[in-house]
Amino acid sequence: MLSEELRKAREFEDQYLPYISDAERPAFHVTGGIGWINDPNGFSCYKGAYHLFYQYHPYSNQWGPMHWGHVRTSDFIRWERLPVALAPDTEYDRNGCFSGSAVELDDGRQLLMYTGVHRVRREDGVMQEFQTQCVAVGDGVDYEKYEGNPVLTGRNLPEGFSALDFRDPKIWREADGSFRAVVGNRTDDGSGAILLFESGDGFHWHYSTIIDRCHNEYGRMWECPDFFPLDGKQALLTSPQEMAALGLEFHAGYGSICLTGEWDSEARKFTRERVQSIDYGIDFYAPQTLLTPDGRRVMIAWMQSWSNAHCQPQNARYFGEMTLPRELSLRNGRLVQNPVRELANYHGHRVAYEGVLVNRETNMPGVSGRILDMTVTVRPAGTMYQWFKLNVAKDGEFATTIRYKPVCNTVRVDRSRCGIRHDVVHVRDFLVRPRGGEIKLRVVMDRCSLELFVNDGEQAATFIVYTPESAESISFEAEGSVLVDVEKYDLDFDRV
Ligand code: FRU
Repeated sequence: MLSEELRKAREFEDQYLPYISDAERPAFHVTGGIGWINDPNGFSCYKGAYHLFYQYHPYSNQWGPMHWGHVRTSDFIRWERLPVALAPDTEYDRNGCFSGSAVELDDGRQLLMYTGVHRVRREDGVMQEFQTQCVAVGDGVDYEKYEGNPVLTGRNLPEGFSALDFRDPKIWREADGSFRAVVGNRTDDGSGAILLFESGDGFHWHYSTIIDRCHNEYGRMWECPDFFPLDGKQALLTSPQEMAALGLEFHAGYGSICLTGEWDSEARKFTRERVQSIDYGIDFYAPQTLLTPDGRRVMIAWMQSWSNAHCQPQNARYFGEMTLPRELSLRNGRLVQNPVRELANYHGHRVAYEGVLVNRETNMPGVSGRILDMTVTVRPAGTMYQWFKLNVAKDGEFATTIRYKPVCNTVRVDRSRCGIRHDVVHVRDFLVRPRGGEIKLRVVMDRCSLELFVNDGEQAATFIVYTPESAESISFEAEGSVLVDVEKYDLDFDRV
């Protein structure tokens, strides 16, 4: 039986979706049906497909009472829209179905675990928001909330942990079939912690241990955790609020970080060894991963930042999109990410150049466009150069620039002239590994997004660029002389 709220959301989509044309959307990145989206949720394999849910407010382009939207794909590139999966329609989640995740049960049904939010007015008049963990079970399209919800509340928490900031369960199954979940929480000192919970059946849960905590060092509240083995280590991803800037590694505000270390699963002990940013761009938050049947750890994130969520194109019918799913690995102890290999199945027309001498602004015939996958390799032509610039989404008025300075090993992406008319951050600098003046820049563009992968995924940097699509020129510049190789593919979605 569909609740009234869920029926209303589904009908709303049915009524208004036909008014949004494909040309208004990115070609291969996930968007919500209509209205607002944020975090990816329930990114998982189920019945031979990859499912993705997302935080969804269909009724406006602003954040509101959270629903779960739903899409499905067989290759991470072409997505099929499914009906809205969850609506805020019970006592315990009446103010929102916040972020969560999904696994398959032994009986073949899919279990969603999410944060149910309800607000209560205290005696002194102040509104308090309680966050609890809830589950729903379904067949990949329709889901029913469990009658025993919520399955975890403030009562399950030890002393010093908060029932008000207790959210975003990421669930997985152990080899013995049991269930575990990590959940974000705020502790006594006002900063975040990631807690582990355990269950035999996915419905009855208990507190287990603290995986790691922040002590106000990397931001404050830690949102949207994920926890998984990666290349012999264990990775803990989380998205901290209120980060302090530190060098070129961490910028102020909403961040997303990866803590790597050792996980003793028997003793339930995580030993943190390293901490790094996940993405060095502006528009990346709340990543979540899944494990593919062929053993790849694939990550997707909200391609936005909360600080820029008011920077919306005029007359947009929807707001927000997801990043391209990325394959994760560790190299020299650092997180490496590259576009899912399935993207190559859509490589269409190819244009390639080798060893082009660039010492002033240069265009290369056939190298332009806004839906593309392009790799640019740069090396010094003789003596060391001062800088190299790659300009994209460019015409006489607009441009977004990626600049590499070999003397300081920094990449700067500047979207100040991309067309966003808001006084927000438009520039990011980050460090790359020195390679004697060589650098490899892979740029994936899908109309209004730019995802940059440096040196085979050693750094990723993600940006929304609301530039008119007619600005599709690409140019190369250098102070000094460089030799440039370019391999550019248009993406052709009729191929597969
Ligand atoms: C992160 C977040 C989550 C929460 C959701 C609400 O972006 O704040 O912690 O579950 O968004 O929409």
